[in-house]
Amino acid sequence: MANRALFISLVSMFLAVFLSASPAQLADSQPCAVPEGTPFSKAASIKIECSSTRPLQGGAKKREFVVKLPSLSQQPQQKYPWQAIDPLKDPSAYVKALLDYGIKDNQNIDWRIEDDPSNGWCHAPWFQDVRERLRGMTAERHSRSNELHALQGEGRQNWAIGFYNSAACRRLAEVWQDPAFPKTKSFAFPDGSYAIKVLFTQATPSEVPYLAGSLEWDAAIGDAGEVATLRLLQVDVAVKDSRIPGGAGWFFGTFMYDAGTPGNTPFERLVPVGLTWGNDPTLTAFQYEQQGKTVAEAWVNAAVAEKFFPLPRHNLGLFGRLNGPVDNPRSSCIACHGQALDWGRAVPKGSLAERNAQMLLPGPPSNTSDDEALGRYFMNLGTSSSVQGTQPLDYSLQVAKGIEKFRVWVRAKYPSMVNLTTDVPKFAFPTDPFEAQPATTPEPSVKIFAR
Ligand code: HEC
Repeated sequence: MANRALFISLVSMFLAVFLSASPAQLADSQPCAVPEGTPFSKAASIKIECSSTRPLQGGAKKREFVVKLPSLSQQPQQKYPWQAIDPLKDPSAYVKALLDYGIKDNQNIDWRIEDDPSNGWCHAPWFQDVRERLRGMTAERHSRSNELHALQGEGRQNWAIGFYNSAACRRLAEVWQDPAFPKTKSFAFPDGSYAIKVLFTQATPSEVPYLAGSLEWDAAIGDAGEVATLRLLQVDVAVKDSRIPGGAGWFFGTFMYDAGTPGNTPFERLVPVGLTWGNDPTLTAFQYEQQGKTVAEAWVNAAVAEKFFPLPRHNLGLFGRLNGPVDNPRSSCIACHGQALDWGRAVPKGSLAERNAQMLLPGPPSNTSDDEALGRYFMNLGTSSSVQGTQPLDYSLQVAKGIEKFRVWVRAKYPSMVNLTTDVPKFAFPTDPFEAQPATTPEPSVKIFAR
C-alpha cells in the first residue's frame, strides 16, 4: 500500500514537472531546427512554418506568438468601408475608416489572430528569425534621445508587428504556395489589400508623458530573450486603393497614442497623424524654408505636427512629409516603401552585393539641401521599380524582406537551389565576380531600408 502511494506521488510529481514545461521550453534547445541532410523542400516548409527562432528567458508561463500564414482559402471582400469616402476631400474620415477596419476584428482577440480561424487576417511569411517569441514583433528603428519628447533623455527601442487582411493574404498565399519556390513575377496586390502595423516602444510615461495609460505588451526583446514591457505608441495603416490615376496605388496613414485624448480604451485614444498618397518629389529645402511651401500629396494633422516642432527633429517626415513619431525625420512612408523589390537573388549582409544594393537604393538623404538626392529619394514611382531591372513588390517591405530572407537562407544552406528558386531574373551587380569575398571595409552606416 505504502509503495503504491509512493509510486502515485512520484508519477504525479513527474507529470507536474513535465506539464509545467511549455512546448516551446521543451523545444528551447533548438526551436524549428532543420536536421542535417533534410531535403530542400522539406527544409523550406520547416522554416516557413516556424513562428520564432529567437530565445526566450523567464517567459515559461507566458503565452507565445504563433504565426498564421496566408492561405488560398482567404477571399477578398466585395466592399470595404473606406471606399465610400473620398480620400482627397475628407482625408481624416478616410484614415479613420482605415484604422477602425483594422482594429475591429483584432482588438478583442488581443491581436492573437490565430485564435479565430474565421478571422481573415494573416502574418507575413519568413520573419521567423527576427520575430521575438511572445508577440512576434520585429525590431524597428530606435528612437534617438528627444525624438519622442523633450524629457526622453536616452535612445529607446521600438518593436512592431504587421497584419494583412484577407485580400492581401490571398495574394501572399499565391506567392508562397510552394514554400520552396516563391513566385514574385508581376507581383501586385489587388485593390482592397490592406495592412495594419502596431508599434510599441520601450520608452516609459516618465520620459514620454503622452504614453500614460497606453496598451502594454510584454515582449522578449533582449538579445538573450529577456522580457520587457512595451507600450503602444504608433499604428500604421496602408491600403491599395487605385483611385488616383498614375499614383502609387496606395494610401499610407498613421496614428499615435495620446494620453490626453478622450477615449475609454487605448485604441480610442489614438489620434490621426496623417494620410499620404504621394512623395511631393519637387518639395525642396529652399521652397520649404524660404517660400513657406509644404506638402500637397499628404494631409498632416496640424495639432500633432505642432507638438513635434519644438523638438530637434521639427518634423515627422522631411519638410512636413508624412511619417510617424517612430520614423526617420528625413524620410517619408512612401519614399521608404517604394524601395520594396526583389533582386531575384540573395544580397547577404556584408557582401559586395549589399554595398552595390545600398548605392542603388539610397537611404534618407544625409544632406537635405541636396536637391538631386532629394529628387531621387522622394521620386513618385507609380508602379515602377526603384531599381530598373528588378521586380517591384508593390510597396510592401514585408514581402520584400521575407523574400530576401528566404534567398539568403537558400544561398547559405542549399546553394545548388539558388537558380531554381526564382521566377524573376537574377539582378547582375557590377561586382558579381567578387561577391563571395568577405567585406574589406567597415559596414556602411546606412542600412537598406534604414528607418
Ligand atoms: C525608412 C523606411 C520606412 C519608413 C519611413 C516607413 N516604413 Fe513602413 N515598413 C518599413 C519596413 C522595413 C517594413 C517591413 C518590415 C518590418 O515590419 O520589420 C514596414 C512595414 C510596414 C507595414 C506592414 C506592411 C508592409 O508594407 O510591409 C505598414 C502598414 C507600414 N510599414 C506603414 C508605414 C507607414 C504608414 C509609414 C509612414 C507613417 C511607414 N510605414 C514608414 C519601413 C519603413
